[in-house]
Amino acid sequence: MLYQTLILGAGAAGMMCARYSGPSTLVIDHARNPGEKIRISGGGRCNFTNMYAEAKNFLSANPHFCKSALARYTQWDFIELMDQHGIAWHEKTLGQLFCDGSAKQVVAMLAGELQRAGAEMWLQTSVISVTRVEQGFSVALDRDGTPQTVTCRNLVLATGGKSIPKMGSTGLAYDIARKFEVPVIDTRPGLVPFTFAEDRFKPLAGIALPSRLSNARTSFDEALLFTHRGLSGPAVLQLSSYWREGEAINVNLIPELPLYELLRDQRQAEGRRDLTTEMARLLPGRLVDHLAKELDLRGRLADQSDAALQKLCNQLSNWQLTPSGTEGYRTAEVTLGGIDTDALSSKTMEAKSVPGLYVIGEAVDVTGWLGGFNFQWAWSSGHAAGTAI
Ligand code: FDA
Repeated sequence: MLYQTLILGAGAAGMMCARYSGPSTLVIDHARNPGEKIRISGGGRCNFTNMYAEAKNFLSANPHFCKSALARYTQWDFIELMDQHGIAWHEKTLGQLFCDGSAKQVVAMLAGELQRAGAEMWLQTSVISVTRVEQGFSVALDRDGTPQTVTCRNLVLATGGKSIPKMGSTGLAYDIARKFEVPVIDTRPGLVPFTFAEDRFKPLAGIALPSRLSNARTSFDEALLFTHRGLSGPAVLQLSSYWREGEAINVNLIPELPLYELLRDQRQAEGRRDLTTEMARLLPGRLVDHLAKELDLRGRLADQSDAALQKLCNQLSNWQLTPSGTEGYRTAEVTLGGIDTDALSSKTMEAKSVPGLYVIGEAVDVTGWLGGFNFQWAWSSGHAAGTAI
């Protein structure tokens, strides 16, 4: 069978690419349904883009690579598409846009657009082999138990990263890239909770509070969540993408709380009150109990000198913690690293050394922050390749 374009992966990037790549396009996916990650994203409401998306929200060995694609298909272009389809949306926080209804509306919209563009989609279809031939590529497929061979001029790798293997993620794009000697930057899990030895925070599981998390390279002001295994919540997920094994992180538990001033004022007004009782009025009680043991907090407010209160506040804003690891690809929202951007055209996503081979979406070494940025990269890179084809 002959197609102009074969897209491997009917996820966010693959379906967006098919919308632009023309009628002689076949999209294949080994899953039963297209866009499964879209369906489960954002708690079922899909954080489909971010109003403030720009290059600084992405990690890559080449931080400039994403600029061209993001500029040519912006968050406003995707918002317009949502509006054309009458899909209602709202801003949750920090420019993060979610569907009012369901993420399934986004999947249906993309599948509909793909069909309208005249592209075909085969589900439950896996790739057996890919070989270079005179016309482009010959791809042996297994379509629900039936062998099929497709010849195509353009082959688009849109099979995503390694995150959440249970959802059908594989390293197929990396394997095909390596086969054609396109370099791949080592991958690691991103947007992933931290784990700590000996269930250190188990007694605190469920507590959430505003925080500032930082390391030597960056800092995020968002919520922190204690879990049975360690730490999660937006601030942790964000920092995890910048974290390396063995590194300590800095946790500020009181980024917006003028704790020193409040405790000093209360010492004046309610000096007989216990320090920890007063702190429990400002911070979650279970957290205060834990800190009381860890920092040996005791005595009445009146017993605390200015220096002691200052020391306490410094400890709460400079809590140094060393995670033992992360939850890994099992729960990571994204995969850091991937196909080396140096080997790709930033305008078209085509491999410089393999004409006709394109790579889009999460498979590329471009990874967004939490907050709709990863989908925006999938839309923008899919559009870049689709229009170039
Ligand atoms: P994607 O993973 O979407 O698609 C790849 C497709 O290829 C899949 O359909 C898969 O079945 C198929 N495939 C894989 N291997 C194959 C093989 N060997 N043969 C055939 N087919 C194969 N981002 C964001 O911006 N906002 C959000 O709200 C969320 N929320 C979120 C929640 C959760 C739980 C996860 C895991 C991730 C997110 N993300 C997110 C990240 C976002 O889902 C991700 O970055 C994009 O889906 C990437 O789009 P791609 O098209 O590159 O890959």
